[in-house]
Amino acid sequence: MNKVVSVRNLNILLKLCGTAILWLHVATAGAQEYPPTGERLRVLADNADFQIGYASRYNFRVQTYAELYEQIVKAEFNIVTPENSVKWENVHPLQTSYDFDDMDTLVQFAEENNMVLHGHPLLWYNQNPDWIISLPEEQVEAAMLDHIDTVVSRYAGKIKVWDVVNEALEDTSLGGGYRDNIWLQAMGESYVEKAFVRARAADPTASLIYNDYDVGWFTPKGEAMYNLVTDLVDAGVPLDGVGFQMHIGATFEEYEEFSSNMQRYADMGLDIYITEFDVKTLRPSEYPLQGVVYEEVIRRCLAQPRCKALQIWGIDDFNSWQPFFDPLPFDDDFNIKPAYYGMQRALLAKALHVENHSSPENIIVESGVVKPLASGGSLKLDQVNFEPGYQSLTLRYANSSRQTASVDIRLDSLDGPLLASVATPATASATLFSSVDSVIATTDGVHDVYVIFNTPVEGFSLDYVLLNTENRTPSETPIVDEDSPATSSSGMIGPITVGWLATMLWYRRRFLRLGSGQWSFRIIPGYQKFPV
Ligand code: XIL
Repeated sequence: MNKVVSVRNLNILLKLCGTAILWLHVATAGAQEYPPTGERLRVLADNADFQIGYASRYNFRVQTYAELYEQIVKAEFNIVTPENSVKWENVHPLQTSYDFDDMDTLVQFAEENNMVLHGHPLLWYNQNPDWIISLPEEQVEAAMLDHIDTVVSRYAGKIKVWDVVNEALEDTSLGGGYRDNIWLQAMGESYVEKAFVRARAADPTASLIYNDYDVGWFTPKGEAMYNLVTDLVDAGVPLDGVGFQMHIGATFEEYEEFSSNMQRYADMGLDIYITEFDVKTLRPSEYPLQGVVYEEVIRRCLAQPRCKALQIWGIDDFNSWQPFFDPLPFDDDFNIKPAYYGMQRALLAKALHVENHSSPENIIVESGVVKPLASGGSLKLDQVNFEPGYQSLTLRYANSSRQTASVDIRLDSLDGPLLASVATPATASATLFSSVDSVIATTDGVHDVYVIFNTPVEGFSLDYVLLNTENRTPSETPIVDEDSPATSSSGMIGPITVGWLATMLWYRRRFLRLGSGQWSFRIIPGYQKFPV
């Protein structure tokens, strides 16, 4: 009896400790460090001519939290993807019948709220109904074509982007190549081309994309996708873009590769969509780091003219497909996390695409970058509006010479006021890019911006200049969570520490909550307190 009581007491004590630790962790990652700008994401995205969106939960209108959910998504997003509504098992449950109810509801909701619709997916290896899995192989092609005709033409002119083929590639650990699925078994590799051709015929106005995961930066699977897409484009298959899912972790740092990877698809004339963005964490103390990843990925996307949209996969951690990793910008109770503010800050940045210059002198433009001739050069960017109060700039460049080059940025004329003088150290090769931040002189109003390559710079490329509303120079770089080196995506956990205890208690809490479906304690200031 005594033993039972003491175990119970210990349990309560642990719970209390855990709650206190969580409070501490979360409080330090809270609103003070990430002051809201007061602007909703979709307002900022509209201003930046960008699409920011989410995957809409199946049957979202009949959930207990429907009202709050609708309030949030209407306010925050201008593009939406059905998370599950048009997967075969839901939309085409029987061979002879389709069920469009849930998708129709979403289409209506999107139209009422002026959101772009992104359809997902037409073909996938997963979430297929039993009838198609057991259909004789020789009948699968006809069923696939009928499905594409029926679904795409029903929403023709309404769904603007379609993930036509999703995850056709095998994980590289399994050898790369095409992933085994019912489509491959029935038609061989030609199913990919057949699906694109049919989707184009069913709605010639929709953008058709190939979508996959672990392909956004330079990975073996990313190479397989690049080769697949190159082959499709070379063969004249109607493909308009690529989707990078980007289910990544808070330790992600392959940003330069991400930018270079987007560029090589842009060079093929393709659009890029970040289709299923979320960032896994192992405990709440990683939320600030998660916010940095949200911010940086969106900044990179904004800086690439062909990156059209970024959609997060869900909105809140509780309803995420990976709820144990708190990967989204809203917590279990739809409160804002640091990731939300990261998104806000990113959307406030303004990209100056140097290839869109006028008055160039001694420069050439190639693959979205500007290259000054060896003697130096300059270019002019017309009528840049500085009103949002920019504090710093980020310059992305490659410098294959042995010396540090310098780039001056001046206002109004070649010898006008200096906005910034940026040192750009060597990067070892002409294709190895780096990004450097520099504080800028306080400026407002509208100005022509001159980018001047002073020194002789052989082998120099400038990709873009990004104006930031925050000071991003090193002393001000966002805080990286110092007690979490052991929380890399490999999932290693170090010795027993306060952090480790917090992690365990956090998991336990999530487990209990998932099991019971209860909404328990609220831990950070609520969405509804966010200034409207
Ligand atoms: C996931 C959904 O989020 C879950 O609700 C569902 O149970 C399984 O599928 N890649 C994709 C998405 O292309 O369709 C997946 O969505 C997540 C991984």
